[in-house]
Amino acid sequence: MDRACAPRQGKGASGVARAQRNFVCQACGAVTAKWAGKCEACGGWNSIVEETAGAAAAGAPASRVGAGKGRRIDFAALSGTTEQPPRLTTGITEFDRVCGGGLVPGSALLIGGDPGIGKSTLLLQVAAALARRGTGCAYISGEEALDQVRLRAARLGLEQTSVQLAAATSIRDIVATLEARDAPHVAVIDSIQTMWLDTVDSVPGTVTQVRASAQALIELAKRRGVTVLLVGHVTKEGTIAGPRVLEHMVDTVLYFEGERGHQFRILRAVKNRFGPTDEIGVFEMSDRGLTDVANPSALFLAERRGAVSGACVFAGVEGTRPLLVEIQALVAPSSFATPRHAVVGWDSGRLAMVIAVLEARCGVAVGPNDVYLNVAGGLRIAEPAADLAVAASLISSLADTPVPADMVVFGEIGLGGEIRAVGQREARLKEAAKLGFRNALVPSAAAVSGPARAAPVGGIGVDEIDHLSDLVARLRPPGRTLGRPSGSDERRRPYAPAGRRPGPND
Ligand code: TYD
Ligand code: MG
Repeated sequence: MDRACAPRQGKGASGVARAQRNFVCQACGAVTAKWAGKCEACGGWNSIVEETAGAAAAGAPASRVGAGKGRRIDFAALSGTTEQPPRLTTGITEFDRVCGGGLVPGSALLIGGDPGIGKSTLLLQVAAALARRGTGCAYISGEEALDQVRLRAARLGLEQTSVQLAAATSIRDIVATLEARDAPHVAVIDSIQTMWLDTVDSVPGTVTQVRASAQALIELAKRRGVTVLLVGHVTKEGTIAGPRVLEHMVDTVLYFEGERGHQFRILRAVKNRFGPTDEIGVFEMSDRGLTDVANPSALFLAERRGAVSGACVFAGVEGTRPLLVEIQALVAPSSFATPRHAVVGWDSGRLAMVIAVLEARCGVAVGPNDVYLNVAGGLRIAEPAADLAVAASLISSLADTPVPADMVVFGEIGLGGEIRAVGQREARLKEAAKLGFRNALVPSAAAVSGPARAAPVGGIGVDEIDHLSDLVARLRPPGRTLGRPSGSDERRRPYAPAGRRPGPND
């Protein structure tokens, strides 16, 4: 067993510093003294790797600071005249908005995303746009050869811009280059996982290397006022590989997401020291790269086929912007012993909850069927406000009754079947009105009981409901029960998908 980490050993030990060996979890960055199959901090399996901590490695236990050695720091008041940071705008509207109005000089951004989603394409376009506006930009690729980047630039029609291109992976070289007097003001590092610092004795891509490399670049950014854009790959668990730690270090974290088969891409700000978070930018990927989408709702609804059973338009809000998307459900008799429930673009746990509430509170047995739920266009929705639209599409599919084509739906569902109010009601309704919708099914604004018809907003009729059974009553064909008859013993059983129970079509 390795004893190198035993800290209080030698009274009479010689003063020679031995390289300290740490065991670092590659998922969460936790440091332990010995190897283990499971990380105690995050619960991840087989994620602990031995690393030798050099001087530059963060995470090593801080040495004790002797008293009286530091300089006294001066404190300042909270009030004072601080100017808003100047911004470097790219002219790519969606990108500038997600950054909070453009890039802040001397800041560090991390752009995460699945491989192949378009990070390199986006950042090459950003670099070219800045170069066109007279800002010196460097694009440093550690993944692709110069020719590959040039080919991409040619495809995007950007080969005539003054972006300075390099293929490099040594942080020491990169920092030395960016230190120079005539160095570019913006540097794209594609990707941080390929970078390495020679003072750190670990392979590129490990937590220690990624962290040390990022630290060197961020330090440079602050010192020289260079804006660094770091590309980070996302692991299959959805975190930027290596490091949560990286998210703490940078000023802004953006995620680039989307379904590979769709042309839409969403750039989402999850952290921003210089602007709002939860802001999104919508792009369309074409053979000429990424283009801004000024009116995403119109785009997401472009392929709608009118009133089809199982489809329902959800009036959502992403960041500060309302966004209409179609939610599609297919409820079909199951031919499996355990019915299949599959979801794309929404949380499967949340779907299970909506199905359970429909069954327990309204007697609508969706669960025994196969259920497929899809958010059209490849968007991922995280809002609980989509609950009611999901329920509407499920009931609509089960009853084979279309939701009116000119209706939008939003509202959160509680476990008792109650419909809860959600934020930004006016913004949602206005966006729906703008796109030609005439009706909205929404939660009651005040704590009034029973369905009500509220004053129209922006020419859209507002239908308020406060219980899920009101939605069922609106979509159920007259004289038909959905699923098992209400009042039967089955109905009171908790929802459990295991085993096939009689469905509505038996
Ligand atoms: P890329 O930017 O290399 O992704 P990442 O850096 O996130 O790994 O994008 C790769 C994909 O984008 C690839 O599948 C091809 C596609 N693409 C287009 O559809 N149009 C284009 O103009 C370009 C440059 C790429
Ligand atoms: Mg790439």
